Amino acid sequence: MELPGKVAVVTGGASGIGRELCRRFAAEGASVVVADVDAPGAAAVAQGIGGLAVPGDMSVEADVAALVDAALLSFGRIDLFCANAGILWGVPPADPAAVVGPEAPDEAWDRMWRVNVLSHVYAARALVPLMLDQGGGHILVTASAAGLLTVLGNAPYAVTKHAAVALAEWLAITYGDQGLKVSCLCPQFVRTEMLARAGELAGGQGVAHPGILEPEEVAEIVVEGLRDERFLILPHPEVAEYFRRKADDYDRWLAGMRRYQAAPRPG
Ligand SMILES: NC(=O)c1ccc[n+]([C@@H]2O[C@H](COP(=O)([O-])OP(=O)(O)OC[C@H]3O[C@@H](n4cnc5c(N)ncnc54)[C@H](O)[C@@H]3O)[C@@H](O)[C@H]2O)c1
Repeated sequence: MELPGKVAVVTGGASGIGRELCRRFAAEGASVVVADVDAPGAAAVAQGIGGLAVPGDMSVEADVAALVDAALLSFGRIDLFCANAGILWGVPPADPAAVVGPEAPDEAWDRMWRVNVLSHVYAARALVPLMLDQGGGHILVTASAAGLLTVLGNAPYAVTKHAAVALAEWLAITYGDQGLKVSCLCPQFVRTEMLARAGELAGGQGVAHPGILEPEEVAEIVVEGLRDERFLILPHPEVAEYFRRKADDYDRWLAGMRRYQAAPRPG
C-alpha cells in the first residue's frame, strides 16, 4: 500500500507507536483518524497533523462501530485500519517487577482479553465486509514479539498477544484472496509510555534493553512493511531468528528462556 491519498485509522493513536504512525501516515499524505480512549491526547495528535480525533474505548464494540462510522462520514472509505491499542496489565500490579501469572484476578485477565484481542475482533467484524465491498483494504494488528515468542513475568500479555497474532493470521488466510491485506506488527522493546510503566518487565530489561527502538523508527518500518504488503512486520529482525529457533526445537527454546529468566540483570 502506498499511503498518499489514502484514509488511515489508528487506534491507540494518542501515544507511543500509534502516535508516530499517525504522524508518519499524515506526512506521507494520508488522511488520518486518531482514535484513543484518551480523548485530549487523541485531539492533540489530530490537531498537530490536521487529522480527525475520535475518542472511544476499543474494547467496547459500539465505540469501534462509532469510529468506523465517523471515519466513513468524514472520508467516505477506510483504506488502512491499524488496530494498535493495547495494554500491558488489566489491573496494574502494585509492584511492576512482580510476576503476573495465572493467579491474576479474572478482572485483570478479562480486561487484557477485551483490549488486546476482542478490540481487534470488533474491528474485523466491522471492517471485513466494508473493505471487501469497497474493493480492498488493509488491516494492521499491533501484536508484539511476545505473541510469537513470549514475555517474562506477564502471562496475560503473552497469552493475549499470541491470540492477536492468531487472529491476524486467520484473517490473512481467509480473506487474502478477496482483496483484504493483513499485517501483524510484532516489535520487541519500543520507547513508549507503556514501556516506561513496565518497570522490571522482562527481568529488568525494557527501557534499558540495548535493542530498544524509538517509535519513529517503528513507524518508518511499518510504512515499508505496508508498501511491501508484508504480513509479519518485525522492527527487530532478530525476532525472526528467535521464532525460527522456537519452531525448530521447542524444548531447547524453553530451556533457553528459563536460563535467560534466571540470569542476573545489570542494575
Ligand atoms: N512499547 C513496546 O515495547 C511494545 C512492544 C510490543 C508491542 N507493543 C504494542 O504496541 C501497541 C502500542 O503500545 P505503546 O507501546 O505505543 O503504548 P502506549 O501506552 O504509549 O500507547 C497505547 C495507547 O493505547 C491507548 N489505549 C489503551 N487502551 C485503549 C482502549 N481500550 N481503547 C482505545 N485506546 C486505548 C492508550 O490510551 C494509549 O494512548 C500496544 O498494542 C502494545 O501492546 C508495544
